[in-house]
Amino acid sequence: MKKWQRNAPCWCGSGKKYKMCHEAFDERILSYEKKGHIVPDRSLIKSEKDIEGIKKSAVINIAVLDEIGEKIHAGMNTQEIDDIVATTTAKMGGIPADLNYEGYPKNVCTSINDQVCHGIPSTDIILQEGDIINVDCSTILDGYFSDSSRMYMIGDVDPEWKKLVEVTKECMEIGIKNVIPWHFMGDMGHAVHQHALDHGYNVVKEIGGHGCGLEFHEDPFVSYVSKPGTEMLMVPGMVFTIEPMVNMGTDKIFIDEDNGWTVYTDDGLPSAQWEVEVLVTETGCEILSY
Ligand code: MF3
Ligand code: CO
Repeated sequence: MKKWQRNAPCWCGSGKKYKMCHEAFDERILSYEKKGHIVPDRSLIKSEKDIEGIKKSAVINIAVLDEIGEKIHAGMNTQEIDDIVATTTAKMGGIPADLNYEGYPKNVCTSINDQVCHGIPSTDIILQEGDIINVDCSTILDGYFSDSSRMYMIGDVDPEWKKLVEVTKECMEIGIKNVIPWHFMGDMGHAVHQHALDHGYNVVKEIGGHGCGLEFHEDPFVSYVSKPGTEMLMVPGMVFTIEPMVNMGTDKIFIDEDNGWTVYTDDGLPSAQWEVEVLVTETGCEILSY
């Protein structure tokens, strides 16, 4: 960590002198680094201005997911979901972050049943009674990114599948409760994992959450199969997503060879995911996008 002059304006942009602002904070981080822990660098600490910007972006992201919740129904194709994302986001002045992201062809991800994530909307994919679908939406507003996803159940869903959706939501909520400043990402990830395991489910290892806000995907990678006391230290001002992918069966996955995006469970059993974007605060966390 770069040394900062004690009387100089703080690096965080507050306008306060460093000694009155983040000096003690930096020292606390340094003490963890000296013990060999992974610690965030300053670029991951959001300023007040950044947080305001992310919150405004999230207003759109949340409105889009609410809108989908009202309109989603059996018989609808997933391109129609993509259209809702495009129009609602544009109407509110935002840009869908997914579109053209590393060549991704659509505005949103719609992952049904055994699709783990990155399902690509299409007029050929029609929602059926009994389907479970994750709609993962991300928005850019004034350069700030928000990212969250929800599960929707189409009509009558098999009780076992419903339970998967509900337990996965609980996993996310347990993640939220375990975002505690000066604890570790691994404490949180482990708690999420344990809840899934308690129900006989498995959590995808290869894909996880991420820092988010000034870019779509920032450090750190957020695992939900991690161990207590490991991974990055959580400190106030960090913003990241909690988005466990929970599989009813095996955690083995494969990627669709034709489109290069869509991830499936290896055994064809269903997978569920919920995603929130949170800000670490002095006492816990604040949910920015859900
Ligand atoms: N929204 C996803 C996430 O939660 C990322 C989707 S990238 C895309 O991180 F290109 F597939 F859209
Ligand atoms: Co995400």
